Amino acid sequence: GSTPTKGGPVSPSPLRIFSQAKKKMNEIFIELDAQVKESTAFLKRISQGVVPVNLETVDHVEKQYSKIKGITEMVARDHMKVVFFGRTSNGKSTVINAMLRDKILPSGIGHTTSCFIQVEGTDEPEGYAQTEGSDEKFGVSSVANLSHALNQGHLGEESLVRLHWPKNKCFLLREDVVLVDSPGIDVTPDTDIWIDKYCLDADVFVLVANSESTLMQAEKNFFHKVSTRLSKPNVFILNNRWDASANEPEFMDEVRRQHLDRNLEFLTKELGVISNQQALERVYFVSAKEVLMTAQKKQQNAIVNPGAFPDGYLMRMQDFDTFERKFQECLSKSAVRTKFEHHTQQGRKIAHEMRNLLEEVYEQSNLTRALQEEDRLRQESLFHLKTTHFESMSVDFKEKIDALSRKAGQEIIAGFKE
Ligand code: GTP
Ligand code: MG
Repeated sequence: GSTPTKGGPVSPSPLRIFSQAKKKMNEIFIELDAQVKESTAFLKRISQGVVPVNLETVDHVEKQYSKIKGITEMVARDHMKVVFFGRTSNGKSTVINAMLRDKILPSGIGHTTSCFIQVEGTDEPEGYAQTEGSDEKFGVSSVANLSHALNQGHLGEESLVRLHWPKNKCFLLREDVVLVDSPGIDVTPDTDIWIDKYCLDADVFVLVANSESTLMQAEKNFFHKVSTRLSKPNVFILNNRWDASANEPEFMDEVRRQHLDRNLEFLTKELGVISNQQALERVYFVSAKEVLMTAQKKQQNAIVNPGAFPDGYLMRMQDFDTFERKFQECLSKSAVRTKFEHHTQQGRKIAHEMRNLLEEVYEQSNLTRALQEEDRLRQESLFHLKTTHFESMSVDFKEKIDALSRKAGQEIIAGFKE
């Protein structure tokens, strides 16, 4: 059920598709695991008995058993992954904070994201960070703390810091969503390594664009590269900083239409990853800053006054809301497909092989039973032979005794006559 907890929507989220599928997968594999375990024990037991079981068969079953364990562990680790890209200062870190409903990642002047930061949930009560290739945990109780930890390592831009943040603080983290922040796409001419390291297992990409300028070639090129490596990546475009458009209301509609046209053209024609109709659900006009500020106010139980924000605040909030819903739908569906399809196939294969093995043993035991039956019949008929033999013998005896007694009777009668 969906209990109203801090940091997210109360209504059932589309992300449940993933958690439900994961739960189901887990149940199925636990059952399969139990079945295989039972079958192994059974085969071992009977292999010492009358039914001939090939020991290779038992070995094979045991191997399947260990495979299932591996898959169950993988299912438990499976998550939904979303990666954020865009030019420096477009608001990537702010968008992530807005989605997590808390200022978790450093953002703004002096807080340029200089390497990849992966935010994922932990059951521990306090957040901590880990740099790539090290088991050392940096305690992270505040943003300042994280900034400090990030600046310590002198990490390359393509390296990774994993930020484990308490699940109970964020809805998305509770639902197994992993969010990856990146350095500005304009800081390096060579993003191939980024794609290899961070994009190949991503379920959704969010391009954080700046609505105060047009989509840059650097941003487009990056996604062109991604789509050569991944067939039909799921790309959402957030035209962020849309609150700034309120400064020039006379151009607002015009600017919006221009952005929308170009974004749609990019998704449908240039990248060719999606139809026109679908693309309309992939482009949004938002202000991450406002979403974050609103969430922070609500957390402090302060009253949110829309009048305190630039014109169009409610529409931007609404657009962000729609974005989140469509994003969650897309994310969970894609993750179920990419993460679980393979496991399902593996599970099916194991179940199939198991069935064939047991079928074989069953046939063998049927054969043995038939042989035993034949044996039984033969023995029975032997017994029958013996009994009939006795019967005929006894008939013989009877006749002989009869004859004797008749003879004796006659002799007695003869004796009287004398
Ligand atoms: P880098 O990590 O340097 O690549 O930048 P970034 O894309 O992560 O941007 P960041 O989130 O650090 O935001 C840059 C600045 O833009 C910050 O001062 C934010 O407060 C501000 N900002 C982010 N989103 C919005 C928005 O929607 N509206 C306005 N007005 N400012 C925003
Ligand atoms: Mg950043």
